[in-house]
Amino acid sequence: MQGMWIQGGRPLQGTWRVSGAKNAALKMMAAALMASEPCLVDDVPDIRDVATMMGVMRHLGADVRLEPGGRLHIKPPDYPCWEAPEHLVRQMRASVLVMGPLLARTGRVRISMPGGCAIGPRPIDLHLKGLRQLGAEIVEEHGFVEAWAHRLEGAEIQLDFPSVGATENLMMAATMARGVTIIRNAAREPEIVDLQTFLNNMGARIVGAGTDTIRITGVRELGGARHAVIPDRIEAGTAMVAAAITGGDVVVTNVIPEHLEAVTAKLREAGVEVEPAGAGALRVRGSLRPKAFSVRTQPYPGFPTDMQPQFMALAAVAEGASLVKETVYTSRMKHADELRRMGADIVVDGSVAVIRGVERLTGAVVEATDLRAGAALILAGLAAEGDTVVEGMEHIDRGYELIDEKLRSVGARVRRISEDLPVAGERPLVRA
Ligand code: EPZ
Repeated sequence: MQGMWIQGGRPLQGTWRVSGAKNAALKMMAAALMASEPCLVDDVPDIRDVATMMGVMRHLGADVRLEPGGRLHIKPPDYPCWEAPEHLVRQMRASVLVMGPLLARTGRVRISMPGGCAIGPRPIDLHLKGLRQLGAEIVEEHGFVEAWAHRLEGAEIQLDFPSVGATENLMMAATMARGVTIIRNAAREPEIVDLQTFLNNMGARIVGAGTDTIRITGVRELGGARHAVIPDRIEAGTAMVAAAITGGDVVVTNVIPEHLEAVTAKLREAGVEVEPAGAGALRVRGSLRPKAFSVRTQPYPGFPTDMQPQFMALAAVAEGASLVKETVYTSRMKHADELRRMGADIVVDGSVAVIRGVERLTGAVVEATDLRAGAALILAGLAAEGDTVVEGMEHIDRGYELIDEKLRSVGARVRRISEDLPVAGERPLVRA
């Protein structure tokens, strides 16, 4: 088990440069399967999910190479294989986003149903309903989905929920459909706007991403494209909370401030100073102790669910009682159990948590159950008295590039540990 040892109680100081957005890069990789020429994508983070998606693409016949520094070379196959590799799809839900591109490019796709995960069931019914409206025949059996279409036909699609993945899958599928497709109640995340830019650079004709209505006019062929991925707003938010929870003073660079408005507003509500620090940079200064706040997660531009665990950690040391309501996932509260091991006072009832802030958390050995829960535990460890070990770094490495190096660059005392840790219960703390 990969772990991270953290010595708490040190205010972070310095500069944290944010990497390119995981949740944009993964979709562009899927989209490139539709290209008839090579694509070049810059600022792709070197993280486990990108490596997994590269494996999926190689299995489908693409030639992909990620250079140090984040330049991803993609040479799409002349005739992609239409069967996604089951073992990789089960590792990463985002693999389901090859459905739209493969249907558009080859007229066929077979993929295993993505498994659920620690934050709840992760159905793809909205994806499949939209693909059927675009004319795909779809069979779901034995845990697999098989879809085919001679050529997809443009349609008017009303999403029951502004699903990010469904919006992206359908937008990609529609790029080469016959006629016009309208997606209503579309998700509005910045990563979807970035995907629209990439697809239009490939020759697609899409308008409206970033609003709740996206219009796609189908084209017969898509060429290659060159694009730089937008900064990762969730990594940026995580770095901002790291400054806040340690009472530090950190300049976070390579950010797009308007992608962080809900996070910035909530930090200010908690008494944290957030100020522009030049183009694409924010300076975050934590107070002695944050003030209590209430958070309700919502689709963009509301408060992002991917920042909910990190803010629960901040609430754990705030002055007063905070309220966190998770509306996007059905069980994204598992990090509360691990925060309690560190002395947090949290009561969870379904998707609502009441957190009574304590003066200090205490170091402990805790386990990451998913990517953002792991990030929350690292933040709690940074603020806690004594040493913390966060087990399950493989979850965190899925979405945070070089997080230990970035933490050390702002003065944190952290170190990866990889020896097998004793079984839970009698876990001795690791000394530096
Ligand atoms: C994307 O997941 C992100 N992942 C998630 O980030 C993020 O939490 C989520 O959007 C919401 O912002 C990537 O982009 C790779 P959804 P996605 O479809 O597309 C339900 C991270 O930590 N739903 O908007 O899967 C679903 O179960 C990850 O980086 C259906 O019921 O999110 C969930 O409850 C975690 N049927 C809700 O909608 C469907 O067909 C939101 O899902 C699709 C979704």
